[in-house]
Amino acid sequence: MSAIYFDNAATSWPKPEAMMRAMADFNANVGANPGRSGHRLSIEAGRIVFDARERIAVLLGAGDPCTVIFARNATEAVNTAVRGLLRPGDHVITSSMEHNSVMRPLRAAEREGVELTVVACSASGEISPADVARAVKRNTRALFVTHASNVTGTIMPVDELAAVAHERGILICVDAAQTAGSVPIEVEKTGIDMLFFTGHKSLYGPQGTGGMYIRKGLEALVAPLERGGTGSRSEFEDQPEFMPDRFESGTPNTIGIAGLGAGVEHVLSTGVETIRKKEAALTGLFMEGLRAVGGVTVYGPREALKKTAVVSFGIEGISPSDISFGLDERFNIMSRPGLHCAPSAHRTIGTFPTGTVRFSFGIFNTEEEINAALRAIEILVKENK
Ligand code: ALA
Repeated sequence: MSAIYFDNAATSWPKPEAMMRAMADFNANVGANPGRSGHRLSIEAGRIVFDARERIAVLLGAGDPCTVIFARNATEAVNTAVRGLLRPGDHVITSSMEHNSVMRPLRAAEREGVELTVVACSASGEISPADVARAVKRNTRALFVTHASNVTGTIMPVDELAAVAHERGILICVDAAQTAGSVPIEVEKTGIDMLFFTGHKSLYGPQGTGGMYIRKGLEALVAPLERGGTGSRSEFEDQPEFMPDRFESGTPNTIGIAGLGAGVEHVLSTGVETIRKKEAALTGLFMEGLRAVGGVTVYGPREALKKTAVVSFGIEGISPSDISFGLDERFNIMSRPGLHCAPSAHRTIGTFPTGTVRFSFGIFNTEEEINAALRAIEILVKENK
């Protein structure tokens, strides 16, 4: 029996053939350092990086590809924003559903003199834009908020939150690690100031890729996390201020970006709306099935359309790690148990410190796999009675 992979929120797998081909092709036929040497292979490497940047800009609704920068992952992008933007005395707002990739940099900033307000979300992970509006103060600089929780899948009302941010004159910075590629996003239409993405989840690129969108002009207010060689303005010892070089120092992960570009192309040609529909159908089928099994508690919104393809659940009397282990050992089903690097989210939904079992679906999952998982869960529940 082949593995049933339901851990796409941690990293998507399998990847599209084209993604693997693009990486092998880069290694076999290109291999050079982009934007450095001026020979044809270096130019070809630069074109591969630019194509990936352009595709991500199209996917996110950003008019200028140079507003998209690459990073090691979404975490590095969030750190760039938090450390580069916030100063002691600033106030920043976030939600109680954040992943530690947002919460830890913000807590570190708090220790350095930034004021932090964590807006409490509901037990299913929903944030109230009115609560965010009430939290804004004279010195509030920004709202950092996830687009969707990695624990419950709850999709945040980013349009309403952006409207609140604009009315109050603060920035909105969105963590799209769980949504870029699987939920439609329009950064410019929505008025998002910064958006962080990872390459290896719903963009179907390799691990070690990610980045962010920064609204044109805003980059001047964000200090880069690192400085170094960019292949541009080599006569100067100061970091170039123009985009994307301001934030991209050192030789990039070109082979990874080659794979990411192909992954994004796969998403664009499939269509984010089509992906969303397919994943919502699988999520709905699974949640409906769990309700029929009984003895299972499901966390987060009940409707598939209010969430990403993530379902957190628990079985009374069995720990999440035992459930996940049993699913792996006996049924070849891969899931993620525990706190999912988001302790605050688990406190919010009432599952701290034990956590939940999380299933997360992707474009290659099937109804047959969902039905097999439901049968396996039914067996675990019955055995535990
Ligand atoms: N943030 C990833 C997850 O939720 C790794 O599993």
